[in-house]
Amino acid sequence: MSGQLVLLRHGQSQWNLENRFTGWVDVDLTDTGRAEARAAGRMLAAEGLRFDIAFTSVLQRAIKTLWLALEEMEQPWVDVVRHWRLNERHYGGLQGLDKAETAARHGDEQVHVWRRSYDVPPPEMAADDPGHPHFDPRYAHLDARVLPGTESLALTLDRVLPYWHDAIAPRLKAGETVLVTAHGNSLRALVKYLDGVADDVITGVNIPTGIPLRYRLDGNLNVVESGYLGDAAAAEQAAQAVADQARAK
Ligand code: 3PG
Repeated sequence: MSGQLVLLRHGQSQWNLENRFTGWVDVDLTDTGRAEARAAGRMLAAEGLRFDIAFTSVLQRAIKTLWLALEEMEQPWVDVVRHWRLNERHYGGLQGLDKAETAARHGDEQVHVWRRSYDVPPPEMAADDPGHPHFDPRYAHLDARVLPGTESLALTLDRVLPYWHDAIAPRLKAGETVLVTAHGNSLRALVKYLDGVADDVITGVNIPTGIPLRYRLDGNLNVVESGYLGDAAAAEQAAQAVADQARAK
C-alpha cells in the first residue's frame, strides 16, 4: 500500500461568488471560502490525517486554502511546494466574463462544452492581452512556449501529469501522506487520470470547493478506494451546484 492522497479544491473565491470565469486570474478567497478552508482542515484533522508534504498552485486562492487548512489541523510545519503546473485550467478569452451571461450569449450547450468537454478549449486570449501569462512576473522564469492563452482539459492534463509523475507520485510511492490543494479543473484532470475516467464521462464530473477528496492507492498508485470526506449527499449537492453555475438565467 502506498501513502494516502487527499485532493482539495480551494474554498469559494471572489469570482466563484460573482460567477465569473477565473482560470489563471489570481483572485482571493471570500470569507465563505476561508471558512470552507478551515472546515476542510477540521475534517482532515478528524480523520487523523498527518501530512508529510503538500502541493499547491501559484494562485492565492489555492495557497491560502492550504495555509488555513494546515493551521486548522495544527500542522503548520508541513512542507508546501507551489507549482504553476497545478494552476487552474486557463480559461482564455472567457476569463472575467460572467458565466450565466456567457451562456445567454452563446447558449448553455456551447458553454458546457467550453467548461466540461475534454478536448475543446475556450476561445484563445490575445497574446497582447495584459492578462496573458507572458506579462505575469511569476512565470518570467519559464519558457514562454509553455504559457497558455487557453486550455482544454486535455491540455491541462498534459501539463499537470509531468508534475504528478515527477514530484507527487514519488512521495506516495515512498509511503508518504500527501495533500494537493488546487482548482476545479486541474483536479478534474488529475481525477480523470487516477480514476481512468473516459473522455465522454469526464464532462459530467464537477469538483466542489473546500471538501477533501481522499484516495487510498496501492503500491503502483492504482486507486483502491476514494471518496469525499464528510456527508456524501452534501458533497454531491455542492458538485451539482458547480455544474449549475453556467446556465443562462
Ligand atoms: C474558474 O476557473 O472559473 C473556476 O475555478 C472553475 O470554473 P468552472 O467550474 O466553470 O470550470
